[in-house]
Amino acid sequence: MNELKRQTAPLHTALESRVDILSEDLSLERYKFILQKFYGFYLPLENQIASQNGFEALNLDPAPRWKLPHLVSDLEKLGFSATEIEALPVCPDLPELNALAQVLGSMYVLEGATLGGQIIRRELRKRPELGRKGWFDFYNSYGDKVGTRWKEFCAALNRYGQAHPAVETHRAVVEGAAQTFKKLDGWLAV
Ligand code: HEM
Repeated sequence: MNELKRQTAPLHTALESRVDILSEDLSLERYKFILQKFYGFYLPLENQIASQNGFEALNLDPAPRWKLPHLVSDLEKLGFSATEIEALPVCPDLPELNALAQVLGSMYVLEGATLGGQIIRRELRKRPELGRKGWFDFYNSYGDKVGTRWKEFCAALNRYGQAHPAVETHRAVVEGAAQTFKKLDGWLAV
């Protein structure tokens, strides 16, 4: 876990600057745009993760961790119809996740984002244009269980790391995470 964090830290910093959600002058339009972009990335990526085998052995069920329902809920509360949501553009350039190791690396990025989400939600609630409405399901994906869910995920990833000590496997986890950071960054840039 330490190595994963260390190696992807610069990518996290880059993405944090790209997602200008904490900017003082964040408009409602920009907030909506960022949510739509996340929707277009999480939809195909979560599908890709769902098609992977091998989670049972790790005692890790990805299904209760999907963030897509939260993104849909936020968009609906912002006035998007189901048809409009279904028509949103979807990212065509996803990370290459050919093995469980890479999938777990990718999940590390999506799970870790819930930690920053806590801070983002707290800040957004202070914004006059956004705060009153309280549509922050995505940035509050696990409610008060964020810490517990993160620890459970880290424990599963560590179990996997111990069961597969080969350097190549550990590299593949980092590669899955790095690609996920980079592809999301690229998708947010267009
Ligand atoms: C403005 C946007 C963001 C802010 C302010 C932010 C902030 C944070 C904070 C405060 C942490 C917790 C650090 C700790 O407790 O050690 C964190 C962790 C993390 N964030 Fe972000 N984040 C942002 C965006 C994102 C995005 C968009 C992603 C990925 C989709 C992401 C992925 C991660 C990951 C993987 C971790 C876990 C790092 C680790 O402990 O291994 N973050 N972030």
